[in-house]
Amino acid sequence: MSQEGSSTKMHRARESSRSSACRDLEVPPDLITGGREGSKAETNPTLAKAQGEPQASVLSIFLLELAARAGTLGSAPGVAKGGAAMREARVRKMALGWLGGLLWVGACTGGDTGWREVATAELAPSEQRQRERALAARDALKSRLLAELGAAMERSGAAGAIEVCRQRAPILAEEVAKQHGVRIGRTSEKLRQPQNASPEWALAAVRAKRGSEVDFRGPDGALGLLDPLRIAPLCLFCHGAEEQIDPLVRAKLRERYPEDRATGYALEQLRGHVWVEVPPER
Ligand code: HEC
Repeated sequence: MSQEGSSTKMHRARESSRSSACRDLEVPPDLITGGREGSKAETNPTLAKAQGEPQASVLSIFLLELAARAGTLGSAPGVAKGGAAMREARVRKMALGWLGGLLWVGACTGGDTGWREVATAELAPSEQRQRERALAARDALKSRLLAELGAAMERSGAAGAIEVCRQRAPILAEEVAKQHGVRIGRTSEKLRQPQNASPEWALAAVRAKRGSEVDFRGPDGALGLLDPLRIAPLCLFCHGAEEQIDPLVRAKLRERYPEDRATGYALEQLRGHVWVEVPPER
């Protein structure tokens, strides 16, 4: 609900949604991509799409090779004692290890949504128009939310405004979506309202707490926009450090959101994002 302007910085193409999804896991990029990620592939959606596969095949080859090598080692002096059963156990153990690695990498790159992060400057003219619509919808949602929140806080204080937020936020999002012909919502990696879960295409960037605007190209000509929301002084009433939140507000939050994860923020910290999904132009 903050109003600070959003910058239209050029995004580093290197930060594809896939690599940001994996940043936390600290998987070397070569392992994820099989070392095949070229600069072209990073910006070309067709190539990027084809990248889903190589890491699986590279790892399977490793897996087979290791299994084969374990078989040979098994017959070396000293190891040979255990005979076939031991050899088999070794092969199984090593294979399992690699399988685990494969699954790990799979979890990191998997769940392919068909959406790709794309640098703003590389958007086609029709996509630029979609983006303009996304920005207009974002501005509308932010200003309406802020207006209602401000009025509610003036009328009934922060504790009362929680209820307004709870009931009005989804309605406002729905109204803006209809008026602008988009899908729109707010989300965060630390949710207060579980219904504000991020759409799948934005999930990795939300989790990576991306602090500037990010554009996404969808599989069927849709365009996605993810826009950061930072903590302004007003937000601290309901998202600030627990001990600084008014006890009445704290009690109300606990009652309404027993699973609340959205407190403990400081000024200027990233609180979450607005996401917008614009369908293809007809
Ligand atoms: C009066 C209390 C209150 C204030 C002030 C407030 N919020 Fe919230 N916020 C809520 C409540 C309640 C929700 C959950 C309901 C909803 O709005 O969807 C929420 C949800 C959110 C969400 C959606 C993600 C989630 O955790 O569910 C974001 C993002 C957010 N707030 C950001 C902000 C920002 C940025 C500000 C300051 C401009 C702010 N809020 C001010 C009470 C508040």
